[in-house]
Amino acid sequence: MDKTYILLVLKRVRVNELIESGRLSPFSPIALICNKLGIRWLPRMDEYIYGPSPGMTEVLERIISLLKPESMLDLFSGSGAFSKLAYTMNVKKIKAVDIYVEAAWRNLKKLEGIMIEERDALRIGNERYSMVVADPPEERIRELISRLPKLKRLYSDIAVLWVGPYYKAGETIKKLSRDRKCIVVEAWGDAVAIFWKKKKHKTIIEKVVKNIG
Ligand SMILES: C[S@@+](CC[C@H](N)C(=O)[O-])C[C@H]1O[C@@H](n2cnc3c(N)ncnc32)[C@H](O)[C@@H]1O
Repeated sequence: MDKTYILLVLKRVRVNELIESGRLSPFSPIALICNKLGIRWLPRMDEYIYGPSPGMTEVLERIISLLKPESMLDLFSGSGAFSKLAYTMNVKKIKAVDIYVEAAWRNLKKLEGIMIEERDALRIGNERYSMVVADPPEERIRELISRLPKLKRLYSDIAVLWVGPYYKAGETIKKLSRDRKCIVVEAWGDAVAIFWKKKKHKTIIEKVVKNIG
């Protein structure tokens, strides 16, 4: 007798389900950030559940509130939490890019001005935004950094990149510190690289850095 097996791989999970099952404390930073932003779904890939980290979220919120960008590209957007943050802060044009967009789609689908694209974030080109945020998985950081010249063409003002847990990021920080228009800050254990284009953007970053952590 023929048997047909249907393999169902769910690439998203409800934040509430994680809390109810005890996998996530309702007081964990990710749960609190999701709650504040109204993010109900997180992407699930094999063993990993991705979401907005406190360090990146804080740096991003502070920069958006001072820069007031018109547009933002959210690379490795996962749940879409950073896109939602930008949306709630009045950024008018936002694009969220990830290889899995199910969770982002559920979180962002009704919001005007947000585009969701399912594709490789490392191969995006010929677009221009005021800001770029990139929150790659750890194994993609090296490749992302090797593509910095291309990445720099995507934004006119500021880019914010997660470059790993701070305690592990020594080599990357050394490498990035050769770039005159980059600073790496520690925010809640995250190493966050911030790039700027003009002096006025640097002034904003200096204000942000003073108040982080
Ligand atoms: C650290 S998580 C991002 C979390 C996200 N900032 C959030 O708030 O939910 C990394 C994301 O990178 C995505 N990813 C991995 N490789 C990718 C690639 N080559 N292109 C686009 N997205 C990728 C994963 O699907 C995952 O959602």
